[in-house]
Amino acid sequence: MSDTTQPGSKVRKWGYSFTWTEEHLPREQTDPLQFESDQLGDAALESLQAIERAIHEKAKAQGDKPPSRDIYATLQEHHDDDEVLRQFWGQTHAVPDWVDWNQIERGQRYFSRYALANLLGFGLQGFVAENSASVRVVEVLVRTGGFSTMKLLKRLLETFQWLVQVTDSLPAIQPGGSAHIATIRVRLLHASVRQRMRKVAAEHPKYYDMQRFGLPLNTLDSIHSISTFSCSQMWMQLPRLGVFPTKQEKEDYVALFKYIAYLLGTPHSYFEDTEKARKLMESLYVHELKVTDTSNTVAHNFMECVSNLPWPFYISRSFIEAGSRWINGHELCDQLGLGRPGYFYYVIFAGQCLLSIELAWAQRMFPFLDALVVKGFRSLMYHGLVERKDRARFAMEWVPKLGKQTGKEDHTKNSNKGRLSLGNVQSLAPIGLIEGGSQLGPNTTGLFSWSKMARMCGTTSLSFSEEAPTEI
Ligand code: HEM
Repeated sequence: MSDTTQPGSKVRKWGYSFTWTEEHLPREQTDPLQFESDQLGDAALESLQAIERAIHEKAKAQGDKPPSRDIYATLQEHHDDDEVLRQFWGQTHAVPDWVDWNQIERGQRYFSRYALANLLGFGLQGFVAENSASVRVVEVLVRTGGFSTMKLLKRLLETFQWLVQVTDSLPAIQPGGSAHIATIRVRLLHASVRQRMRKVAAEHPKYYDMQRFGLPLNTLDSIHSISTFSCSQMWMQLPRLGVFPTKQEKEDYVALFKYIAYLLGTPHSYFEDTEKARKLMESLYVHELKVTDTSNTVAHNFMECVSNLPWPFYISRSFIEAGSRWINGHELCDQLGLGRPGYFYYVIFAGQCLLSIELAWAQRMFPFLDALVVKGFRSLMYHGLVERKDRARFAMEWVPKLGKQTGKEDHTKNSNKGRLSLGNVQSLAPIGLIEGGSQLGPNTTGLFSWSKMARMCGTTSLSFSEEAPTEI
């Protein structure tokens, strides 16, 4: 990669190239953001915890069983109790005048329209590249334990569940809707991870180096994550699969994530229009991504997790490696320690791309087919991910504590604990409709791999309970 970020310089990194302009963000502008975070979210969390403590104490004093705690229910009930909660509730429930619901709805449709390509791109580029190589993000992830091979699948499914929720329907993302509530829960969950890590780091400075990694879950990493969820799909993931979103689709999807950034307490001005958003993505691609030892751990555990699923969810490691190399290029994948599969797997992956391309073209040509695909994928994904028995409530599950840090794990060592049960598979039968292709033979193993991921949601019997949450 060229080192220079002077206007007019050609930049090339891991197969993505562009010209640096005056509008790209220099490091001096982005670096300070790693020492900022969502202060309103942090303050709201503290208020809610104080309310919950008081309820708990009162119940104890009266000899009653303390009520089970649900942070969102507490917020809903007490949002008028103090100024901080009033502000937090007001901010998350106000609809800024730049929100155009028609555009947000189109953005939601975009996700289901290219669901196959979106999920594949998000898994292979979003997780393998952006996530593993985000220097500070991985330091947080290995300290929560959610990237242990035993828990990673659950985390992936929970993230996909949230993604499916926010793209499902307009009422869902509007104030009071299920995805709106889920997003506020995620914001409070982030605040609780930040609070917990800061507390441990204050007592044991060696636990997490704030000077080096910035605040845990800081503003810069949050902007970067929003960019990965939205911009990377438009300009990196889909084009590398051969699908090119239209100008309108880009505008709509970025608008959806601008609103999501707003709900999550992440500065949304970076997503004002597509040009600005693309330049942000490119700037952060240059500044923020670097492979470290922790990146290797996260990438290793990701591969171990998704390539060790039992039949019929099995996705071969070689297929995932071929897909990762196809999308992210050899240089990054070599640095992350991924294997080099034979040509055969690239041919299979090319087949997957061809399918995505053909489907996208057919949908553009035949609106009725487009409507059918959007409706079909929505209902499959909603049923598989959101309506499953073990669906996420977005409360803190893996409490960061001193001495807890995920290292490279060999999935087979945990196989007894981590085995997936096929017990509930009947409830997911409808998703099996798109699974048919993968039963044709080993050549098509990866063809619907992400639909397999979705199908797993109701089937997991893993017990992920670790220590009970202590903060919320
Ligand atoms: C701003 C964009 C972001 C979005 C949309 C987002 C989305 C989510 C979602 C949906 C969850 C709940 C599902 C799960 O447990 O996996 C979650 C949890 C989590 N996120 Fe984020 N995230 C963002 C930014 C970040 C960043 C920048 C970091 C790290 C530096 C991060 C770290 C975490 C952690 C550690 C949890 C799990 C907490 C636990 O249960 O222990 N997130 N996030």
